[in-house]
Amino acid sequence: MLEIENFSARYGQVSALQQVALRVEAGEAVCLLGSNGAGKSTLIRSVMGIGPDIGGQLRFENKDLLALRVEDRIRNGIAVVFEGRGILQSMTVHENLLMGGFCRGKQEVEHAVEEAMSTFPILKSRQNQLAGTLSGGEQQMLAIARALIARPKLIMLDEPSMGLAPIVVETVFEAIAEINKRGVAILLVEQNMHMALSVSNRFYVLNCGSIVLEGKVGDGVFVSGDGRALSEEELESAYMGEKS
Ligand SMILES: Nc1ncnc2c1ncn2[C@@H]1O[C@H](COP(=O)(O)OP(=O)(O)OP(=O)(O)O)[C@@H](O)[C@H]1O
Ligand SMILES: [Mg+2]
Repeated sequence: MLEIENFSARYGQVSALQQVALRVEAGEAVCLLGSNGAGKSTLIRSVMGIGPDIGGQLRFENKDLLALRVEDRIRNGIAVVFEGRGILQSMTVHENLLMGGFCRGKQEVEHAVEEAMSTFPILKSRQNQLAGTLSGGEQQMLAIARALIARPKLIMLDEPSMGLAPIVVETVFEAIAEINKRGVAILLVEQNMHMALSVSNRFYVLNCGSIVLEGKVGDGVFVSGDGRALSEEELESAYMGEKS
């Protein structure tokens, strides 16, 4: 579904991504792990079309994304929940949800808003409350719900666990797993390696702008791209940037 090949990105003289290859198939949940400054957000922004200078290939359902404007990428089924959530604090929960449907018809949006509120009941009971008064966890739920209003085939989430208490992180990840179960593909960017792996079918580890490891997850077992069983220590050291 999403195919990224030989992809690079730079901010002026600073190279943020080098020759990245990553794919997400329809219905899959894939996580992209990496520590601060690894280039995770840059990759997500590039897929959305708001990144820095880029090179390489980006395709979604065999369409060249680089030829599409941001709104057309959204219309084609890509949604994103940015780092920091991007909630409009002085608008109500309901108004925030409606914003997510700007590229869809009115009836479709109303239906999607109802559905989002049934997935996140807390949002229903607070629909007329100003979004800025929600707790951090509730705001994260709202950001995810808002992304769903556009009826995406792929949703990219940039560090949804950031700044949340462990118990709230669990609720957010349960919601992510539920969304994936309904058939929406997930590209999850995280520093919280264990939580991310718990909801993913496959993973990539990004270090200083390069993919240093990739593999599959099955029943808590991690297998590298070349079929080798990986220990958690190996995963951690790839993530931390030590040679494994
Ligand atoms: N607007 C910018 N101008 C210049 N350099 C930037 C800009 N945004 C990011 N960078 C640099 O690009 C690299 C990758 O940044 P990016 O935000 O993609 O990392 P990240 O993996 O998302 O990190 P974090 O986990 O801290 O969010 C970093 O070295 C960062 O300093
Ligand atoms: Mg980031």
